[in-house]
Amino acid sequence: MTRILHLSDLHFGYERQALVAPLLDRVNAARPDLVVVTGDLTHRGRSGQFAAAGSFLRRIEAPLIAVPGNHDIPLFKLTARLARPYRRYCRAIANDLEPVAHVGHVRVQGVNSVDPTAWQRGVITGAQVRRVIGNLDPGCTNILALHHPMQQRPEVDKMLMKGAPEALRDLQSAGLHVVLSGHLHVWSAGAFLRDGQGGVLQVQAGTALCNRPGDRQNEFAVLDFDGPELCITRHVAPMSEPGFLPPEQMRFSRRDGGWKSL
Ligand SMILES: [Fe+2]
Ligand SMILES: [Fe+2]
Repeated sequence: MTRILHLSDLHFGYERQALVAPLLDRVNAARPDLVVVTGDLTHRGRSGQFAAAGSFLRRIEAPLIAVPGNHDIPLFKLTARLARPYRRYCRAIANDLEPVAHVGHVRVQGVNSVDPTAWQRGVITGAQVRRVIGNLDPGCTNILALHHPMQQRPEVDKMLMKGAPEALRDLQSAGLHVVLSGHLHVWSAGAFLRDGQGGVLQVQAGTALCNRPGDRQNEFAVLDFDGPELCITRHVAPMSEPGFLPPEQMRFSRRDGGWKSL
């Protein structure tokens, strides 16, 4: 079994301070093989916010990879955003914006979906998709980790990432298994909504720490991969509660090229 812990949208600078220590305790208690952080580590990409995010991530005992989110580049300083968008991210978190990790029979490929010219709306390019496809490992469960979702429900008010429909089509037919994303601050897990045969499972994280009142809850998920079986354990901390509730579990099975909810 391989255990991946998925964190997203920490938003240091606007974090729920009372939840930082309980979250860290839960992450370390889960003893994951790998932690994957899908962006928005900070709220405004400021140096102090990156210092807090970096300090938090260094206290995680498991190996960890991260990709940036749109909140990790400058919003208001246009010159800095366009000329050196990832300067603070690279200094505090990692130089590699598209890291790869291989643990057990799971391979995780990070993709940087941030578009500095558009700030909120992301982009995935044909070159990025070709690189992911070229590196798929036939002996592994192949996971793509990026900040922006590749598909979202019609009621979502944010624009879907540029290039997402084409990327999803090509990644599905190439045999990708799972997409981990964040950005919406709303949890969901399931096969993609349309245009597919259920071959790719999307795990859309809620926000792990953001304290915006509209978010209502913080959460993270633990994914246990065991051959074609996947058990997801979701840890939720409603804003109205002092900490995490008992976790809930859901199971999926990958058979005949598609995921089924059990
Ligand atoms: Fe976010
Ligand atoms: Fe975001």
